Amino acid sequence: MYTQPELKKIIDTSLVNLSYNQESERLTDPVKYVLSIGGKRLRPVLALLVCDMYGDKIDEAVIPVTGLEVFHNFTLVHDDIMDRAPVRRGFSTVHTKWNVNQAILSGDIMAFMTNECLLQSPLNILQKVFRIFNKTAIEVCVGQQLDMDFEKATIVSREEYIRMIELKTAVLIAASARIGALFGGADDREADIMYEFGRNLGIAFQIRDDILDTYGDKKVFGKTTGGDILARKKTFLYVRAMEIASTEQKKKLQELYTADNDPVSKVREVTELYDQLRIRSFSESLMEDYHRSAMGFLEKAGTAADRKTELSNLAGSLFGRDN
Ligand code: IPE
Ligand code: IPE
Ligand code: MG
Ligand code: MG
Ligand code: MG
Repeated sequence: MYTQPELKKIIDTSLVNLSYNQESERLTDPVKYVLSIGGKRLRPVLALLVCDMYGDKIDEAVIPVTGLEVFHNFTLVHDDIMDRAPVRRGFSTVHTKWNVNQAILSGDIMAFMTNECLLQSPLNILQKVFRIFNKTAIEVCVGQQLDMDFEKATIVSREEYIRMIELKTAVLIAASARIGALFGGADDREADIMYEFGRNLGIAFQIRDDILDTYGDKKVFGKTTGGDILARKKTFLYVRAMEIASTEQKKKLQELYTADNDPVSKVREVTELYDQLRIRSFSESLMEDYHRSAMGFLEKAGTAADRKTELSNLAGSLFGRDN
């Protein structure tokens, strides 16, 4: 069985070996750039770990699941335009280094490169792979639109928030686990279990991302600290704060969130308010709840316990993660 670092290496190599249309370097340079500046490669590594748990060969899965990473990077390039984010993985974002139009078009190219990769799935699962992928890609767009709608909302309920992150983040992680199961020869019941494992893991993963956006170390996290606050994002931290704040504190938080004042003091003051309300530890415990649910699904998977170790390690490592 493979370890996570071995699989990450396999994916990194597969990404380097992708082929490109040579006609426009102005579009392929940004693609090569974003694929070369780091990234955990979580989605393809997860898919390969699930594949490896069920079957004993991952070879046929490598190129198709590389497509999942290309798709993820496409969503990041467009997400950074929408979120007005200047840094990603510690480097300039594509639209900052080039411009918005090049970022849109090179993102589009990545979406179609994803199809090229997925097309290399064996015929007996090809349709299933495409169905799950297309459904997921549409859901990600819906989630991203909700994320943007919520920038303008004052109150977002916990249910609305969870649905939004389920769509923008968790479904791709869930689909990666399901696709891994298909490649591993698992039946539909097992594939459903793996989907639920990934969905719960993905929700926990996005809550962690929200926490790190405010409390992370920019150098390690690779994104602007407080970026969500500046973009008026309704993160779990904000949603929770609005659940428990006094009338006074609510008013303060809304004012801070919408004011056009100095970004540094804005982030500091919002963080101070979160600290007063002990938002961080509450968010961590919600994240742990989803992590536990994910582990419950992993336990249900019909393979021997010793085949699950690496997946369970991966799930665990995501929650101590700092980037
Ligand atoms: C960032 O995803 C976007 C979210 C869904 C939070 P990752 O945290 O997996 O980003 P990279 O690929 O490792 O940079
Ligand atoms: C990411 O949400 C969701 C997608 C890219 C689809 P975020 O906007 O929180 O991701 P980061 O923090 O920019 O990586
Ligand atoms: Mg976003
Ligand atoms: Mg973003
Ligand atoms: Mg984020």
